[in-house]
Amino acid sequence: MRVIITENFKALSLYAAQQIAMAIRRKPNLVLGLATGRTPIGTYEELVKMHREEGLDFSKVVTFNLDEYHGLKPTDPSSYNYFMWEHLFKHININPENVYIPDGTIPVTGIREYCLWYENRINFFGGIDLQLLGIGNTGHIGFNDPGSSLASDTRLKVLSLKTKKQNGPDFGGADKVPDCAITMGIGTIMQAKTIILLASGSKKARILARALEEPVTSLVPASILQMHPWVKIVADEEAASKLRWKNHYRRVEEVRKRIGYEEVYVK
Ligand code: F6R
Repeated sequence: MRVIITENFKALSLYAAQQIAMAIRRKPNLVLGLATGRTPIGTYEELVKMHREEGLDFSKVVTFNLDEYHGLKPTDPSSYNYFMWEHLFKHININPENVYIPDGTIPVTGIREYCLWYENRINFFGGIDLQLLGIGNTGHIGFNDPGSSLASDTRLKVLSLKTKKQNGPDFGGADKVPDCAITMGIGTIMQAKTIILLASGSKKARILARALEEPVTSLVPASILQMHPWVKIVADEEAASKLRWKNHYRRVEEVRKRIGYEEVYVK
């Protein structure tokens, strides 16, 4: 696990976008796992800029989003489907047939089958090459709130009240946030070949420290990333402020830079 500490949100966004761009240039048909939320917005802005100014080509890229609220249509401005088109897809040359986002309109009775289909699609493309993640105030990744099985696959999850509160502003109040979401499981996420988790702002400092520097527990789902062989945590100064080992993480990056040691981030 590598921890990259950036000066601020802008630098975090640029770093993440550069990592993704590098992966796409190395593997034009990259299978990219994507997240929504406030944190990746800057990354998507940088990717759009790279597409416009440098011709970054998304025509063969396949994307799988982590999650979607249950009960929302793709046209609903609060849906993650809408979010992704607004912030990224409509600004780049992605083939709409290569975009996969869980469908929030599937009736409860069909969800199990639908989730298996979603998992199968990921496998059909050879698995996710690079998964982008944020971290929730509960320590969730995707919508896998505390108590989620660390081996879970794509399924319907009931959201915690804390998560509804976190996302309340997108709906005009926590009570208006849907109770359930379809989310990739923690097991699904852990199968991604490489992972980048973004954390920004002082509100994430405590949970990030718990996830990275305390024992792995289903009560802090992001802590499972300690068990992933190829993960980068990219945190801005504020989010990194409670990491006890932050000077060590900085030193690791300095030494790596000095000796010119950088792995290819697509396997
Ligand atoms: C979004 C997702 C969530 C968010 C997390 C952080 O697709 O899966 O896990 O990454 O809730 O959200 P922000 O970035 O808004 O703090």
